[in-house]
Amino acid sequence: MKKIKAIYPGSFDPPTNGHLDLIERGSRIFDELVVAVLHNREKEPLFTVAERQQMLEETSRRFKNVRVTNFHGLLVDFVEKEKAQAVLRGIRAISDYEYELQMALMNRRLSPGTETIFMMPADQYSFLSSRLVKEVFRNKGSITGLVPTLVEQRMRAKTSGKRGK
Ligand code: PNS
Repeated sequence: MKKIKAIYPGSFDPPTNGHLDLIERGSRIFDELVVAVLHNREKEPLFTVAERQQMLEETSRRFKNVRVTNFHGLLVDFVEKEKAQAVLRGIRAISDYEYELQMALMNRRLSPGTETIFMMPADQYSFLSSRLVKEVFRNKGSITGLVPTLVEQRMRAKTSGKRGK
């Protein structure tokens, strides 16, 4: 039977428990799952792409069919390079739908053979986003339970490093 390889792309700045939940779900239904961190031009990312990749590697090591990497440029070109058949995206709320639909249809136009598969994270993560995690953290709110412990530690290390400078 044909093996299905999927790409789970994103910014992951930082990876959240919602992302990890999706990686776990994806690893169960795809033969191979490649988590791909985008080199985007966000002006002030909290973590470098290499740091995000490392956190994802460490937190998803237990899933044997998951690999973490990064990519530049168009997602469909990366999908082709990886010889994957599908793109995995998480959809949390109706508000995600419009943006995700636009992306999925644009990607289909660019690469008709690539399917986008949407999965829902566990409902306790349906409000969770990297942007909100950063906002809560910046304002000294608790992010425990929203991100893996390792990510929380790296976030603390970053800000204490900044204070030292
Ligand atoms: O985690 P994010 O920021 O919602 O992920 C967005 C991502 C990385 C999936 C999207 O920005 C992307 O695929 N960018 C690569 C450039 C591209 O292919 N753009 C056209 C797709 S519509």
